[in-house]
Amino acid sequence: MEIIVCKTKEEASRKAAALVAALVKKNPKAVLGLATGSTPIPLYKELIALNKAKKISFKQVRSWNLDEYWGLPPTHDQSYRYFMDTNLFDHVDIAKKSTHVLNGLAKDAAKECAAYEKAIKAAGGIDLQVLGIGSDGHIAFNEPGSSLASRTRLVSLTPQTVKDNSRFFKKAADVPRYALSMGVGSIMEAKRVVLLAFGANKAAAVAGAVEGGVSQFCTASALQMHPDAWFFCDAAAAAKLKLRKYYTVRGEEALARELA
Ligand code: PGA
Repeated sequence: MEIIVCKTKEEASRKAAALVAALVKKNPKAVLGLATGSTPIPLYKELIALNKAKKISFKQVRSWNLDEYWGLPPTHDQSYRYFMDTNLFDHVDIAKKSTHVLNGLAKDAAKECAAYEKAIKAAGGIDLQVLGIGSDGHIAFNEPGSSLASRTRLVSLTPQTVKDNSRFFKKAADVPRYALSMGVGSIMEAKRVVLLAFGANKAAAVAGAVEGGVSQFCTASALQMHPDAWFFCDAAAAAKLKLRKYYTVRGEEALARELA
């Protein structure tokens, strides 16, 4: 696990974007795993700028997203399909048909999730998975108590996540309680994982994920077992890491080697 601590989320996102860009340059047909939420927005802005400057192309890239609210149509302005279109896909040269988001209206959730996993496998698996982290340490919608071997499935959200997400909805009653989500086991199969964490409300989750025990109570802690996981944090999100100075030096050296 490499941990890069930056002063701001913009700087951290620029560095994370450099890793994504290096992959896409090396493998124009790369398979990206993408995330939603407020966290990856500055990363997507960087990728859009690199694409507009013709430094990278997404023409042959394929993508699969982590999760989708259960019951929201793709046209709903809080659906994750809508989020991806408006925050990334509509602004880069990716083929829309190569972008995949779980169908929140699928009648048979189990069938939808199984087909999603099968399609990722058929594409050769995810080369690089972008992740945020919930204030309770979740990755995708793998809430505390999710098996670390879990697969893509219908999940129920904790009251904390519903509360965290309510800022995007007009009223609390509108916030979905269920989602379709890739599992921790599915995420662990990505060849590389890039987790972004910004703000003081993520500090406890980051400390739990990096320095706590591996536990289904903080599903991001499973990444301790991943062979190629990178955390990009701003200073506030890294504030509770005991060894943050050491991680920063080591992480920057590892990043420089990767980008050389
Ligand atoms: P956020 O959500 O980026 O909106 O903070 C992160 C998450 O819940 O994974």
